[in-house]
Amino acid sequence: MPRKKKEDQKPDMPPIELPKMKERPQLVKGMKDILPGDQCYWEYIRDTARSIASLYSFDRIDTPVVESAALFTHGLGKLTDIVEKEMYAFIDQGGQNLALRPEFTAGVARAYLEHGMNVWPQPVKLYAVGPVFRHDKPQEGRYRQHNQFSCEIIGEGKPAADAQLMFLAYKFLKTVGLMPQLHVNSIGCLACRSVFKEQLIEYYRSKRSVLCEDCKRRLTKNPLRILDCKNDTCQELKAKAPHIVDSLCESCQSHFMGVVDFLDELDIPYQHNPHLVRGIDYYTRTVFEFYALKEESPEGDDDEKKAAPIALGGGGRYDNLIEMFGGVSTPASGFALGIERIILAMKAREAAGGVRCVPPRKPIDIFVAQLGEQAKRKAMLLFEDLIADGFSVAESFTKDSLKAQLELANKMGVKLSLILGQQELIDGTIIIRNMEGGEQEVVDRKKLMKILHRKLIVENGDISNP
Ligand code: HAM
Repeated sequence: MPRKKKEDQKPDMPPIELPKMKERPQLVKGMKDILPGDQCYWEYIRDTARSIASLYSFDRIDTPVVESAALFTHGLGKLTDIVEKEMYAFIDQGGQNLALRPEFTAGVARAYLEHGMNVWPQPVKLYAVGPVFRHDKPQEGRYRQHNQFSCEIIGEGKPAADAQLMFLAYKFLKTVGLMPQLHVNSIGCLACRSVFKEQLIEYYRSKRSVLCEDCKRRLTKNPLRILDCKNDTCQELKAKAPHIVDSLCESCQSHFMGVVDFLDELDIPYQHNPHLVRGIDYYTRTVFEFYALKEESPEGDDDEKKAAPIALGGGGRYDNLIEMFGGVSTPASGFALGIERIILAMKAREAAGGVRCVPPRKPIDIFVAQLGEQAKRKAMLLFEDLIADGFSVAESFTKDSLKAQLELANKMGVKLSLILGQQELIDGTIIIRNMEGGEQEVVDRKKLMKILHRKLIVENGDISNP
């Protein structure tokens, strides 16, 4: 229904007040709109994720954004920053304690158990792409809603699975035009970690007074998390802290050697980072992180950047998680890449090197221009026929001026414009205008499709359409 104009209102009626907001609505802090200009990055990343994941036989899984809060407090660890400081937890109208997922892994592990995937052929390889939520300190590269591409291999404990995951992530990052820097470490199993925790407590005890308040607490409750702290002083102290690889039991040591052997074989450049522990408690044995080259790094604020470079992605093995959720002991490993950070790195790379990380958009082939009311109606039908034939087509049926329509076609970089006016309707013809040279020809409307196929596909060798 067309809206009534003010002057259409009955004269005896008082003017109708719109219920206006007091202040103009604004984006919530830490959230981000993805505008049309950036969609080419998103589409390219999602398509690349889908195709690489399926090449490696991963099946897609979609888990809900809302899960029980206990899934994450129990799975990720109460003393992790994600659970302690960043989780969007709330009690719903029914009194349930819920959370917006801060990551995918715990939800995927829950789904594995809940849908009896343990009786499927093992390992089960799953990937997910979508938004996760963390009440992080907002800045470039750190958002409160960000998107991850997450891959999990559940039901396989061998080093080859860890190496294949790293290779997949590496290949993905290379495919989107980046030069990923891989850091790897092993944090051992629960047994070798308890030995290491004692060593850490011993090392940090004499330095307790200079640790940040969080780390003072962590020292007694979860000393491994101190290695993950972003505070400047805690970072400095980390340099001389003991290395966990020196405390690995024989079996964890041989697992780690197996992983690096595969990485050497696959020829992936990596570096052993002895202090890498990752910020989630479910990890066992292998942990890894991918960083951008310095010039591709998201800006961050200066302090943050000095303290810890921002990772493009990370992952590792989590052999106890399924059992912690009530299943039988099931080894697993996985990773997640942060899509916003990858896009920032792609843009930085494009700006620094003049390279284009996203393939250019296919140009639009045809613009349908019309002149006159009747021609406009027929032009709308023609537009539908062209789409059905597989051409990429643009139009501006709301514009009446032919000049304005052709200017728009020019701006869009269209190859051919079709012009349909009153005379052409009467004659059963249509004008084809070559937008590059400006020359025009009048053709029989019935032969139009054939002519367009010849011009756009055969003559140009362009198979952008059928
Ligand atoms: P994570 O390291 O916590 O791992 O997150 C993965 C990636 O998400 C990070 O490396 C980063 O690129 C991106 N990211 C994290 N927080 C933010 C943020 N606030 N803003 C923008 N990007 C962010 C996990 O989530 C694990 N679930 C990975 C995993 C899968 N481990 C085993 N399987």
